[in-house]
Amino acid sequence: MGKDDVLLRREFLKSNWTSVDFNNSDMSKKLPFPSQQKPIKEDQKKIPLIPIEKWQTVEINFFDLIIQRKSTRKYSDEKISFEQLSKLLYCTQGIRKYYPDYSFRTVPSGGARHPFETYFYANKVENLEKGIYMYLPIDNCIVMEIPYYDGIEMDIHKATLEQFWNPAVYFFWSVIPYRTEYKYIEAAAKLAAIDIGHVCQNLYLVAESFGFGVCGIAAYDQKAMDKLLKLDGVDEFVIYCASCGKKIRK
Ligand SMILES: Cc1cc2nc3c(=O)[nH]c(=O)nc-3n(C[C@H](O)[C@H](O)[C@H](O)COP(=O)(O)O)c2cc1C
Repeated sequence: MGKDDVLLRREFLKSNWTSVDFNNSDMSKKLPFPSQQKPIKEDQKKIPLIPIEKWQTVEINFFDLIIQRKSTRKYSDEKISFEQLSKLLYCTQGIRKYYPDYSFRTVPSGGARHPFETYFYANKVENLEKGIYMYLPIDNCIVMEIPYYDGIEMDIHKATLEQFWNPAVYFFWSVIPYRTEYKYIEAAAKLAAIDIGHVCQNLYLVAESFGFGVCGIAAYDQKAMDKLLKLDGVDEFVIYCASCGKKIRK
């Protein structure tokens, strides 16, 4: 990869809005909307999360959160609660207004296309078996995707280029590009890359409100990560990861 490749990739950062023929999109052609949530298998049991109405609230200074936030790569051995997990998931991808073809969520997304799925490795969560789960935003519940096996943490460590750090939860966000391409065709990729930053920023701030630390992880092995989550690497692949857990008390 030389200088030309670097320059070519810079183009991705620019807006190509005026050169895209949006009349050619599948949405303009009135093709069916892509699903907002992946289907689950018959044997996957839905585990409901704690809904907003039942959340315990604490008062916190929003500006302190922003000022205190920093990336954390060392975590305590303490578990996080199931309610805290529920809040982290809802505040990063939860639906606040649902329509059959699209939804408005706790994060913004270009054209409200929300092209992501959330997977996470539950390592230290109260009342939750270890394993990799998927979040179902429409149902606000989770399902086990990959049960714990000996070596799962080593597989995550390798796929994240040795960045496991034993967090309470390791988030892996995948992108299903077609959800955004459906409306924006070749303008979609940049939108998805911007969208995912909003997701992780909410994770950083909500986690900070609990005294947890987060580290966004973009340096990972794409093939190993997609293989671990059994994603095809074309129509769905990992776009970003983040580790999250209680900070070590000083
Ligand atoms: C898009 C993105 C990717 C990142 N990837 C990694 C990573 O793979 N490994 C890592 O240790 N930190 C990663 N970080 C964390 C940054 O190193 C960190 O945000 C930066 O050093 C600034 O520190 P702060 O977050 O404490 O302000 C990433 C952050 C962002 C926003």
